[in-house]
Order: sequence, then C-alpha cells, then structure tokens
Amino acid sequence: MSDDKQPVMTDIAALKTELASEIEAANDLQSLDDVRVSVLGKKGRITAMMKTLGQMDPEERKTTGQALNALKDEIADLIKSQERALKKQEMDQRLATETQDITLSPRPERSGKIHPISQTMEELVNIFGAMGFSVAEGPDIEDDWHNFTALNFPPGHPAREMQDTFFLPEDPSEDGEYAKKLLRTHTSSVQIRHMENNKPPYKIVCFGRTYRSDYDMTHTPMFHQMEGLFIDKGVTMAHLKGCLTDFVRAYFGVDDLPVRFRPSFFPFVEPGAEVDIGYTKKDDGGIKLGKAPEGQEQKWMEILGSGMVHPNVLKNCGVDPDEYQGFAFGMGIERLTMLKYGIPDLRTFFECDTRWLEHYGFESTNRPNTNTR
Ligand code: DAH
Repeated sequence: MSDDKQPVMTDIAALKTELASEIEAANDLQSLDDVRVSVLGKKGRITAMMKTLGQMDPEERKTTGQALNALKDEIADLIKSQERALKKQEMDQRLATETQDITLSPRPERSGKIHPISQTMEELVNIFGAMGFSVAEGPDIEDDWHNFTALNFPPGHPAREMQDTFFLPEDPSEDGEYAKKLLRTHTSSVQIRHMENNKPPYKIVCFGRTYRSDYDMTHTPMFHQMEGLFIDKGVTMAHLKGCLTDFVRAYFGVDDLPVRFRPSFFPFVEPGAEVDIGYTKKDDGGIKLGKAPEGQEQKWMEILGSGMVHPNVLKNCGVDPDEYQGFAFGMGIERLTMLKYGIPDLRTFFECDTRWLEHYGFESTNRPNTNTR
C-alpha cells in the first residue's frame, strides 16, 4: 500500500506543474477552455484520477482524495485568473484598435404614432374628468334590454329600425325575451348597465365601439361613441346646457364658439335636444368654427345628441324619477376628430395605412397638453 501511495502523490505534483504550464500557454479563451475540459471535464484527467479513489484502501483514499481536491481547486483558480488576464488583454486590444466615429448622424428610428381616435378619447377624458365625470364600461355584445327596451324603445317601435342593427345568431342555451344578442348600436346601453349596478348619484362618461350596418364616406359598420350621464337630485336642463357648452368650447379650443340646442327626439330622453355648433364657410370651401363676423352667414352643424333622461329609463333601472333627475348625451368620436383635425374621409380611420397614421397620428412623446385643469 505505502509503495503505491508515493507514485500517486508524485503524479499529482507532476500533473500540477504540467497543467500550470498548459494554462499559462493558453493564449486565447478557446484554448483555455479546451484545457479546462481536458482536466476538469467529465473525461478530464483529474476527473479520471478521482475515479480511481474507489479502489484504494481507506487511508490512501483519504490522503489522495485530499490532494486531488486541493489540486482541483488550485487548477480552477489558475484557470480563472488566466481567463481574467485574457479578457483584459482582449479588451485592451479592442480599446487600442477600435474607434467610434461620434460625428456620424444617428440612424433614423421609426417611432409609432397614436391613432387620432385614441388621441380624441384622451382629450375627452381630460375635459370630462376635470368636470368630475368618471369612466364606465360596458360590453360590445349586448341584449335587446340594455340596447333598446330599457332605453324606452317600445317593442316594434320604428326607432329600432333607425339603427341598422347587427343581430347575432340566437343562443339555444339561453331562452327568454332577452336571449337575442346584438352588437350594440350605441353606447347608451352603458347608462343602463351602470344604473342597474350602482346607486345614484351617477356622473359617468363611457367610450367604446358601436356597430351599424352602414358604409359610405361618413359611415362605417364599426365606429366609436362617447356617452355621458349625470343624475342627481335637482339636475336641470340648465346644467345640461352649461356642461355641454363648456365641453364643446374646451374641445374645439374656441372660447366663444356659438352653441345652439335644437329640440329633437330620442326615446330615452324628454325633452331631447341636438347640439349644434356655429361655423362659417371659408373662401377656399373649408370651414371655420366660430361666430360669424358681421355680414357673413352663421352656419350650424350638429355635433351631439342629448336630453333629460326619460322617467321610464330611470324606473327601468330602479331609480325613483321623483327623487333623481338628470341628463344624458352621446356623440360620435370619429366625427369630433374629423372636424377638429381636418380629416375628410371616415373610412380611412380603419384602413390601417401606416402612411395615413404617419400623417394624421400623434407623437407618443411630446403630446399636446390636453389637460384643461
Ligand atoms: N344614442 C344616440 C345615438 O346613437 C345618441 C344620444 C342621443 C345619446 C341623445 C344620448 C342622448 O344619451 O341623450 O344616436
């Protein structure tokens, strides 16, 4: 046994010298790694020697094992420090040879644009948010109750046909009067959902997609609307007029924009009013929002629908109309956007043409300050 012991220990000492010089000779990271694998890898030389420990008697195994482990650690340390030296050498070399031309102009970076619809919705949130409205939501797929009946559209009433509705195939798993699903034709349905699920007072706006079977320069089958609802004790038509006048003036940025309330019919309000804003025709055929100067004709265009919420609608949502009253309003977001930013064709909003977005879109940074607070 003691005869064997000496040669193994001598081998270890010799191997150490040999490996140390191999490591020192490795002059790039790849050859250093080759050395590491040949020594410490699965089939490496030290690994192979470790495997012979099992055949030794306990005494020998102890001393040889310790010596081999110490060798392993030393070699690993040597490899580490050689690696550090090689990396430093490589970096020094790159620093000495590579140059960066910092006078070159940067490559242009393509940045995305905010879609005008998103921009307008953000502006509307800011304006109504400053007036104390919060944002409510509702589903695109509605039932007849929320889209029509609860909003005081009597069954068979021609007003239902006014809004060319997309109906969905009937769901056989559901039955009853309101099983028939449809794509909401307006965001007024969110009024109903909000009142059904919350206690008054209510002061909400809601944004979303709406759907009607229609397609031309000013109609697309999907478009966006905003709906507003304010119900409290003692809310009157005067509040409606003040709120909507302030809104259109803030949105279009014209302080003395003429605003006109014209009687109109919507089943869910009484009285109902369409809101018109004043403009004049320019010589080039364009339009200018605002009061007509002396001698020029004041023109009007419709911008939104509104009214005092019908008592039937409040009752349908479990709200006592003798205690609570208020107003609602609804408008098309594309129309507001087209007018403010001079976009002539509604259909282009949804064609996903990046050149269009490049032209009409908004920078995501450096946004115009739309906060009216
Ligand atoms: N829902 C109506 C539409 O889509 C717009 C509207 C009119 C909403 C009057 C209202 C309102 O809340 O009071 O044409």
